Amino acid sequence: MSADSPKTFYLEVFGCQMNVHDSEKVVGTLLAQGYRQVPTVEEAGLILYNTCSIRDKAEQKVFHRLADYKKLQKQGKRFGVLGCVAQQEGEKIFERAPHVSLVCGSASYRNLPQMLVQLQAGKQRITGLDGRETDECFETEFTARTNPHRGYLTIIEGCDKFCAYCVVPFTRGKERSRTSDSVLAEARQMADLGYTEVQLLGQNVNSYRDPSGKKTFAELLAAVGELFGIRRVRFTTSHPRDFGRDIIQAIDSVSTLCDHVHLPVQSGSDRILDVMQRLYTREQYLERVAWMKAAKREISITSDMIVGFPGETEADFEQTLSLLDEVLFDSIFCFKYSPRPNTPSLQLEDAIPDEEKSRRLIVLQEKQREIQRRTYQRHMGHTLEVMVEGRNEARGQWIGRTSQNKTLNFTAPQAAVPEVGSYIPVVTTGCFPNSLLGEMVI
Ligand code: SAH
Ligand code: SF4
Ligand code: F3S
Repeated sequence: MSADSPKTFYLEVFGCQMNVHDSEKVVGTLLAQGYRQVPTVEEAGLILYNTCSIRDKAEQKVFHRLADYKKLQKQGKRFGVLGCVAQQEGEKIFERAPHVSLVCGSASYRNLPQMLVQLQAGKQRITGLDGRETDECFETEFTARTNPHRGYLTIIEGCDKFCAYCVVPFTRGKERSRTSDSVLAEARQMADLGYTEVQLLGQNVNSYRDPSGKKTFAELLAAVGELFGIRRVRFTTSHPRDFGRDIIQAIDSVSTLCDHVHLPVQSGSDRILDVMQRLYTREQYLERVAWMKAAKREISITSDMIVGFPGETEADFEQTLSLLDEVLFDSIFCFKYSPRPNTPSLQLEDAIPDEEKSRRLIVLQEKQREIQRRTYQRHMGHTLEVMVEGRNEARGQWIGRTSQNKTLNFTAPQAAVPEVGSYIPVVTTGCFPNSLLGEMVI
């Protein structure tokens, strides 16, 4: 990319919602610098890749993709690696993929404008790699959100939990919260632009600490929910250790707060939770579940689990299985333990063979599927409000999302054309393990 080449970029993103939202902010920053986003790598002068390092597979994907991109180098294109692999591997990326010119971790995105100027001037090997202790947040004037109806909003960045298996504290820096005033100002701005759903984001939203001391997390949640124009507020991810009863009280009293909590448990065995350094016991987790079950509205609970953590015996695994029966989650994400650089559990022997991890994964997923096949029936005949997300032409159905974050596909009478982004009542006529079916109520 020379000084007179058109400023076009292509951005690809992997990873969690934080990465997706960071990408929206990165796009906003580039647009403000006079760049234009293009839909294909062929059209782009600059190819950016926002990466994830949570498991080994995700990281391998990055290096495969960078190898694929190498052939495009001849066309004068430039390449930048952003996100968690960039922060983790740093300048080593230049050794493995010498065609890359920019390596920037998420804690340094605020410096992107200067880095883009250097890139445009033809500089090679530009790095943005802050130490873990950075206090900086990435707040942009312009965020290019991809959906006009529901949008993400970061309230806290980084993580201080250091769970034994996890790279995030190393790739995202220490915890730093935004002031409640700045969060509310952004939420208000979103509402003014027509957003009706806001999803508050953080690796651990419950450890939100307002630097101005004005609001607790639950109070902030309620304040966002009370803004004019906001119809749904979600938040993710919650950590059981910091999950207070006041969050349930907020959901009870503010109807716009969605009746869904994603509360990753990781394991049902106290012994494994302890080695994982999760800082809670099965009993404490179940106590939080009991709070949710006692809420005025039925709260949908979802979770993340890891199988095959070092030392996980069959008996430990059985404990995770029995937790499924006890909690009756509405859905779970399950992962095979993957040893990661820098993490404490890297010191533990990863002795459980991959086939055994795969077996446990399948057993866990099948059991959960059976539970959902049974428990989703509870929605039968109920009228639920959905936000219309789109249309599935092939099936002649509309796609909706409930407050509990379930997909509810529905039919509507010929004359009615539900608008994407609108909220409509739908009566449930069919229940499947992962979705619901219904008819628009007129
Ligand atoms: N902040 C969130 C999780 C972010 S990572 C939380 O604390 O819950 C998302 C999920 O990836 C985690 O909940 C965990 O289940 C999984 N995960 C993280 N590191 C992993 C590893 N090394 N191997 C397998 N799964 C992992
Ligand atoms: Fe990782 Fe634990 Fe932090 Fe979640 S709370 S991001 S699992 S270290
Ligand atoms: Fe992946 Fe980084 Fe998110 S490792 S899961 S993109 S915080």
